[in-house]
Parts: sequence; C-alpha cells; structure tokens
Amino acid sequence: MDLEKKGNILNICCIGAGYVGGPTMAVIAKNCKNVKVTVVDVSRERIDAWNDINLQNLPIFEPQLKEIISSCRGKNLFFSTEVSKAISNADIIFICVNTPTKERGLGAGKASNLKWIELCAKQIANFSVGHTLVVEKSTVPVKTAQVLKTILNCNNNNLNNSKKSFSILSNPEFLSEGNAIEDLENPDRILIGGEDENSINLLSSIYENWVDKSKIIKTNLWSSELSKLTANAFLAQRISSINSISALCEKTGADIEQVVEAVGSDKRIGNSFLKPGPGFGGSCFKKDILNLVYLCEFFGLEEVAEYWNSVLKINEWQQDRISKILIEKLFNTLSGKKIAILGFAFKANTNDIRESPAINICNQLINEGAFLKIHDPKVKKEQIEKELKLNNIKENESIDDRNLIDFHNWNIYKSVFDCINGSDCILILTEWEEYKNIEWNDFIECENNTWIFDARLLLDKKKFENSKFNYWKLGS
Ligand code: UDX
Ligand code: UDX
Repeated sequence: MDLEKKGNILNICCIGAGYVGGPTMAVIAKNCKNVKVTVVDVSRERIDAWNDINLQNLPIFEPQLKEIISSCRGKNLFFSTEVSKAISNADIIFICVNTPTKERGLGAGKASNLKWIELCAKQIANFSVGHTLVVEKSTVPVKTAQVLKTILNCNNNNLNNSKKSFSILSNPEFLSEGNAIEDLENPDRILIGGEDENSINLLSSIYENWVDKSKIIKTNLWSSELSKLTANAFLAQRISSINSISALCEKTGADIEQVVEAVGSDKRIGNSFLKPGPGFGGSCFKKDILNLVYLCEFFGLEEVAEYWNSVLKINEWQQDRISKILIEKLFNTLSGKKIAILGFAFKANTNDIRESPAINICNQLINEGAFLKIHDPKVKKEQIEKELKLNNIKENESIDDRNLIDFHNWNIYKSVFDCINGSDCILILTEWEEYKNIEWNDFIECENNTWIFDARLLLDKKKFENSKFNYWKLGS
C-alpha cells in the first residue's frame, strides 16, 4: 500500500479465524462495504466450518453472528486457507492467532507462548507487498510489538523484489464472549497504539465507519499493550474480591446478594463484574494475569507480582471450596453417587469451555468417585472429553482401560430432565437462562432431601421452602 497515494484501506487480511478473528472481521465487513476482508486460518476444518453453506456449523456460537455472516460472506467477507495469497493482497493485516501460556522453558506456566505470532510475522515478512499495516489484535505481553518489528525487518528478504515496509499497531480486543457482536458494534472504546500518526489514523478510519471518534483512544504501542492486560486483570480482580466475600457471607450470616447491592450502588464502585460464582474462566483472564505476573517478576517487582497472583489463587480456591462444600454435605463420600452438573461452559451464551471452572470442579468430584450427569445446551461431548479424560489416567493404565473408566465416570445428557431425574444431587455451574425455569416438582425419581448447589445464584430460595430439595446458594 502506498500511504501517500492511498488514503483508504481496501484489503484486510486477518490471520486466525477463531473466537476473536471471526466475529471482529464479520463486524468490520458489515460496516465497511468498500473493504474486502479475508480471514485465513491454517485449519482447513475451521475454514470449512466458516464456509458452511447452511450456516449450521459455524465454529463458534455468538448471538447475531450468523445473520452477519449470511449477509456479508461471499460479498466482502471471505474465509480461506490461502494464507500467502491473502497476505500479499493485504493493505492491513490483523493478527488474531492464539497466544497460550508457555508449557515449558523460560517463564513456563506464566509467560505467553508467542510461537504463532512469530510464525505470522515470518509469513507476513515473506509474502507482503509494499507498505503493510500489521495489527496486533491477540492479547500479547507488553513489548511484543518489538518482537514483531524485529522479525519483520530480519525476514524481509524481498522475495518478489518489491520494496517492503511495515507499521506496527496494537489494537487489542475487548469483546466478551456471548456478547461479542454487541461489544464490537457498540464498544466502550477502541484502543489504537502505534508509533506513526498516519498508520494510527488509517486504522482509526476503519472504525470511524460505525464508532464515534470520541471513543477512539490513540496511545503509544506499549500503553496500548499494557492497558489490555490491566483491563482484564482489574475485571478478574473484582470477581476474586467478591468471591472472597461470598465465603465470609456464608460464615457470618450476611447475604452476598445484599452486600453486592449495597456496595455496587456506590457510583465509585459500580455494580458490574460483582457477580459471585464458581470463579472466572475463559481464555483470557488467567492467561493475562499470568502474563502480568511474569512481567512484574521480570522487572524485579516481586510485591506487585504477588499482588496479582493472589487474584488467581482466590479463583482456584473458590473452585476447591465449592467441591469441598458439596462433598461435606453428601456425608464426605461421593462414591457411587450421581451428580447432575448443569452447565459446563465458562459462562452462559457461549460454547467455550476454556478454563471453565466446571473442569476443575468436575475432575475433583470424579476423583471422589462420583458419576457425573452433565448437561450444557451448547457444549459438545467431544469438548468435555478432552478435559475430563486426562485426570482419570492412572499409572500403568492402558488406553482401553482409560476409556472404560471415563465412560463409567460421566456422561452427557441432551435433556435437562433426564440429567436431573434420579440424581443424588444437582450442581449449577453455568447461568443458562433455561435452568431458571426448571419445574422442580417433576423429578419423582429424586429422593427426599436431595441437595441443589447453586453456584451461580440463579434460583429463588423461596421456591424450595416446602419442597423435597435442600437448597444451598453460594454466599448465603
Ligand atoms: C486468541 C487468544 O487466545 C486471545 O488471547 C487473543 O486475544 C486473541 O487470539 P481466540 O480467537 O479466542 O483468541 O483463539 P482461537 O479461537 O484459538 O483462534 C485462533 C486461530 O488461529 C485458530 O483457528 C488457529 O488455527 C489459528 N492459527 C494459529 C493460524 O491460523 N495460524 C497460526 O499460525 C496459528
Ligand atoms: C473477557 C473480558 O471481559 C473481555 O473484555 C476480554 O477481551 C476477554 O476476556 P470473556 O472471557 O469473554 O471476556 O468473559 P467475561 O464476560 O469477562 O467473563 C469471564 C469470566 O468471569 C466468566 O467465567 C464469568 O462467568 C465470570 N464472571 C464475570 C463472574 O464470575 N462474575 C462477574 O460478575 C462477571
């Protein structure tokens, strides 16, 4: 792209057709009809799913997403595996690949693994033509832009004899799953960090098609990268704070919902992100805080690292606490007991189970010998299988044994009724709307005094006053 000659961006390429790349590009395509958006991914399966003719098998579920894909796909929105072609046609490239926590080596368990980002940078260096804006959309540790810059410049070997140059921008996503389209259409702010004003303004001009200019914040690269980590850390911190108080409520006779109302009505505090629950999940919070902790340790800020790490500790403790309460109420033995698990996704309105508190809690219950009857309206059995299988491996066990054991330890149910009926206790882990309207009197196969553990504060206590169920609500 020649910045001097061309003021408008015509071709956008997005690398990574995941939870972030897919919806973000769909909304850009919807609002910028003169822009051609191509989303590429190394996974043929993912791209095929995005191209599914009937729109029945889109790889992710988000309210309103299907409608946008249906109206833009094939017009100015394309999904493809031809990475090099999309890169060479692009004026601007969004990097939306995953950045998981490192599993080994320096910073293992905390730092982000940037191998996919690195790979993207190499591909961009090889295949881009002319001047290209490279936008970090994936959440990355502070100073990743520096890594990108170094790789782009080192690998710039002019394969097609064109003079190449790059501008790097940080433009973090703040979308929350299940609300992604709404967050993208009406964002609180758009954050663009960069080094040269021209490039920042060009990226801004895309968003200005539907976002008010006053909501577009322009900063330097590092402020933008750090703001993203800080925003997620603050959100997670509020959840750990309220969850820690939920435990105190249970001990003292205070009621967490009343406390939330009283505390949240102070304008300075506000009432969002104060919902107690089984702990935060999702692909971002834990990973981003671990990143922050690693950064602090790297710069010798031990106390700051410890402060943020405590947010994670409380989150794990809350999950353990819920399992322990359930086990205690069931007379310290789960062996042979059937436990209905309502909800496996990390929150409602998504099929995502990454870091879902249900994973830890279910594994703990399985380890105690329980049989889990799992229901979730959106999560598939194969997803759960990956998470519950590993924890069941005992030494010297063959794969066959393992499958047998898994089969005996849990199963998934399509109907809420079948899931609950005949269970020895019920645990609500995701706040799906449909669980609010369950007719509890219908479960004739549940015995008297069957416990319902409501870890999402979803049900009304009064409903159970004269019922055969015992009702436990988190934080009261
Ligand atoms: C990811 C990160 O997890 C998040 O922190 C960040 O903010 C945005 O990127 P997400 O979109 O949810 O979020 O990841 P995921 O759904 O796993 O999608 C990433 C996609 O990138 C996958 O489909 C993967 O196949 C693709 N990919 C990965 C490539 O196309 N090329 C690569 O080199 C690596
Ligand atoms: C989050 C951020 O909100 C978003 O800005 C960022 O870009 C990606 O990470 P997401 O992970 O999709 O989004 O979900 P979010 O709605 O923030 O919830 C995260 C977790 O916190 C969920 O497990 C949810 O159940 C839990 N949560 C949230 C609470 O327990 N209580 C609350 O009050 C809010």
